[in-house]
Amino acid sequence: DLGGVKISREDVMRDDPTNNVPDNIFSKLGMQLHRRDQHPLGILKNAIYEYFDTNYSNNFNKFDDLCPIVSVKQNFDDVLVPKDHVSRSYNDTYYIDPQTVLRCHTSAHQAELLRSGYTHFLVTGDVYRRDSIDSTHYPVFHQMEGFRVFAPEEWEASGMDATLYSATDLKKCLEGLARHLFGAVEMRWVDTYFPFTNPSFELEIYFKEKWLEVLGCGVTEQEILKSNGKTNNVAWAFGLGLERLAMVLFDIPDIRLFWSNDERFTSQFSKGQLGVKFKPFSKYPPCYKDMSFWINESFTENNLCEVVRGIAGDLVEEVQLIDNFTNKKGITSHCYRIAYRSMERSLTDEEINDLQWKVREQVQSKLNVVLR
Ligand code: PHE
Repeated sequence: DLGGVKISREDVMRDDPTNNVPDNIFSKLGMQLHRRDQHPLGILKNAIYEYFDTNYSNNFNKFDDLCPIVSVKQNFDDVLVPKDHVSRSYNDTYYIDPQTVLRCHTSAHQAELLRSGYTHFLVTGDVYRRDSIDSTHYPVFHQMEGFRVFAPEEWEASGMDATLYSATDLKKCLEGLARHLFGAVEMRWVDTYFPFTNPSFELEIYFKEKWLEVLGCGVTEQEILKSNGKTNNVAWAFGLGLERLAMVLFDIPDIRLFWSNDERFTSQFSKGQLGVKFKPFSKYPPCYKDMSFWINESFTENNLCEVVRGIAGDLVEEVQLIDNFTNKKGITSHCYRIAYRSMERSLTDEEINDLQWKVREQVQSKLNVVLR
């Protein structure tokens, strides 16, 4: 059930040559981890809701079951992503057909909600991105989008211009949210770029001796407001990654754990309990396998990772380029190290050798590279 719409596999997996959604990704549609009150992602979502309810007297409308299958227009055009932006490529985004994608950010819903008349909203959902593999990256993760529209009276009374007023309010709101979640932490604002906001910022917090980027935000581009019926207004928007925050708040060492059904994981969290520290039930050893091959022009690391994930699923922990050189004939060789590790049990040599053998086979047949 995806936002009240039942979607069958046949409906989604159109036999379109451009469809690049593999089975393991399709199977994540509708899981909605963020709607489980006992799951770290659901607990975090509820804690953020609580902040907005308390500070904005329940004024924010909340959406957490909008369908993750959206049009290219919603995901990119409506939020002014340039036609040649890399995020539109088949290498970065899952396409169902040339007009339909799995949303790569919750910003995909900004325009439709504005058009429906909402002025204060939070959108939580699963988002999908083709990417490389390590302990903090997974092709499906969860974001929360926040959006607030101001009427002219609000900034006119302040004496500030509209953009400064909006940016000031945004920063105050998000600093308060960070304190609500993390307590008294050191924070800093970093200027950045997003197609849909200007100015744009990232918020970083100092946590365990490191600056950690927690969210992106900014003052909404006027064109987005104008195209969606808000001609005389100004607005702000933010987008935060729930896994990123939850890994820090709950001490969760690997992003794959969010998908675990192992009771030794799930039983450690309960509704309303933000920041209970996860106790690893046991650490099983990783097993490393190296693989070298000559690449061709169409080779990408994302494609390699998808092949590996397609075979090993959540048993793959990391895929890392460890050597790279070009020979006299101009042909390039890559050596990748694959780390296999289960979060739940120890793997046998036989099992890993079998996976690695299949990986080698499919890397040749699907990516047309030449193993060395
Ligand atoms: N959509 C951006 C991302 O996915 C985050 C963002 C949302 C930035 C809203 C600014 C405003 O990275």
